[in-house]
Amino acid sequence: MSKRDNISKIIDHKLFTEDDIQQMCVSLGKQLTEDYAGKKPLVVGALKGAIFFLTDLVREMDVEEEIDFMDVSSYGNSFESTGNVRLISDLSTDVSGRDVLIVEDIVDTGLTLQYMKELILQRGANSVKCCVLLNKEANRATDVEIEYYGSKVGNEFVVGYGLDFKNCYRNLRYIGVLKPEVIAQTAE
Ligand code: PRP
Repeated sequence: MSKRDNISKIIDHKLFTEDDIQQMCVSLGKQLTEDYAGKKPLVVGALKGAIFFLTDLVREMDVEEEIDFMDVSSYGNSFESTGNVRLISDLSTDVSGRDVLIVEDIVDTGLTLQYMKELILQRGANSVKCCVLLNKEANRATDVEIEYYGSKVGNEFVVGYGLDFKNCYRNLRYIGVLKPEVIAQTAE
């Protein structure tokens, strides 16, 4: 079965097209260019979901920046956050004195972002802010501040553009909503 056949079976509808996503990147990039003017931010991507968003976003930022990655996971293979954030692989950059911008594909409970922000601040960063593509507020379990985001989303399971379903479908160019029955079947 081709990838396209498979996708039509699991996606209920498109939530954001490629153009929608590009517009969000342009708008966020413009804002970040203004806010980080004269600074040299360290842009930290949270693996793996943020890879596509980060590469598009930094190319819309007209500032001198550095990029690094951190792999942090709170979901494992389940559909809901375990509430237990694990550091799987660390930054290779010294963050002390740096202005750090964490880039995430989605914030849900906020536990992952809170963990990353606290860790980076403890290491002596000058500032730590985050830029998130999708802001899902329904299950928020922390008061972590989301300084920049592309769009709010409802309590739906979204895939594509970095967001996965059982570690697949990250490479869709759009963001789609998973059919509820797909989650129900998997949970059985
Ligand atoms: C997802 C997503 C965020 C986090 C958000 O990562 O990329 O990092 O969950 O959830 P939270 O706000 O409830 O903490 P995941 O752990 O699934 O890893 P992945 O990026 O490799 O898919």
